[in-house]
Amino acid sequence: MTQEQHIVLNRTGQKMPLCGFGCWKVDPADAEETIYNAIKAGVRLIDGAGDYGNEVEVGRGINKAIKEGIVKREDLFVVTKLWNTFHAKENVRPAFDKQLQDMGLSYVDLYLIHFPVPLKHVAIDAAYPPGWYQIGAKDIEFERSPMQDLWREMEKIAESGDAKNIGISNFNVQLILDLLTYANIKPATLQVELHPYLQQKRLVEWVQKQGIAVTAYSSFGPASFIQLTDDGKTAEPLLGHPVIKTIAEKHGKSTAQVLLRWSLDRNVAVIPKSMNVERTKSNLDIFNFTLTEEDLAAIAKLELGLRFNNPDSYGFELPLWS
Ligand SMILES: NC(=O)c1ccc[n+]([C@@H]2O[C@H](COP(=O)([O-])OP(=O)(O)OC[C@H]3O[C@@H](n4cnc5c(N)ncnc54)[C@H](OP(=O)(O)O)[C@@H]3O)[C@@H](O)[C@H]2O)c1
Repeated sequence: MTQEQHIVLNRTGQKMPLCGFGCWKVDPADAEETIYNAIKAGVRLIDGAGDYGNEVEVGRGINKAIKEGIVKREDLFVVTKLWNTFHAKENVRPAFDKQLQDMGLSYVDLYLIHFPVPLKHVAIDAAYPPGWYQIGAKDIEFERSPMQDLWREMEKIAESGDAKNIGISNFNVQLILDLLTYANIKPATLQVELHPYLQQKRLVEWVQKQGIAVTAYSSFGPASFIQLTDDGKTAEPLLGHPVIKTIAEKHGKSTAQVLLRWSLDRNVAVIPKSMNVERTKSNLDIFNFTLTEEDLAAIAKLELGLRFNNPDSYGFELPLWS
């Protein structure tokens, strides 16, 4: 069975791989080797961020694979994200330049706004990556940097060709609707949390209808989060869920492969993270089966409205999704 393994992005027509590799929580000590091995195993999209604190090492892994002739730069699709403390228009390009320099790359394929949360600036030489707080502070502090000005800076980076495409992450429909009223360059992609406990069906459909590709993060639901609760709700791990297990057994696949395939069947890209190269290989092996209507109906019933990546549960008050 041959299946499409890319999404064609608006404006540039560039092909974005439907299955990549996520760099969050990849320890810098392991990142070079992990990324190098992932590329060797067939990964072609690397999803990083300044906030992950491992861009130097991720870049080394990428460049090692290129140097050894495993891939050419143009075979890879490198994604990274602008952190919240760099939203003011004068801080966007310097943050982007630092990220390029850290990775040792001359361009990225996609540059995303990580969160629509303008936090007070922290100088790069004071703390990097700065995280959510000002140095020594116990609560977050916002800054008056309008999204419209930030988007214009993102557009300039796209116009320079240093990021081939630009996009957004953790945006809702209201904010996208507003952004589309002033954007000269439409976002190429939206990256959001998506798994059977948080299916966001209408968001995905509406965003795709605007010509914006959708990427799912945390496809395995609670797997990468220590806490299993959000607003007091609980849920069992999706990777061992009986409904997912039954579907996996029927197709002769793993539960991880079924969870990734569930997104692909909505033309949504996935970026699973694994420190284990055998799991990374199996996470890529999802283009030779599809879920049936019956499977999809069973998974639809798992919806809990349960979000794991929620700033409101990080110890500061920010009901971002309200
Ligand atoms: N835009 C945003 O705000 C945002 C937020 C969160 C994540 N992301 C992106 O999305 C990526 C993926 O999301 P995520 O890191 O939350 O987690 P994820 O990919 O949903 O889950 C990762 C967890 O699943 C395990 N795992 C991976 N493959 C497996 C397999 N085949 N079988 C069993 N277990 C497996 C990993 O363990 P091992 O490592 O031990 O294999 C790890 O504990 C991130 O790395 C990041 O790039 C973006």
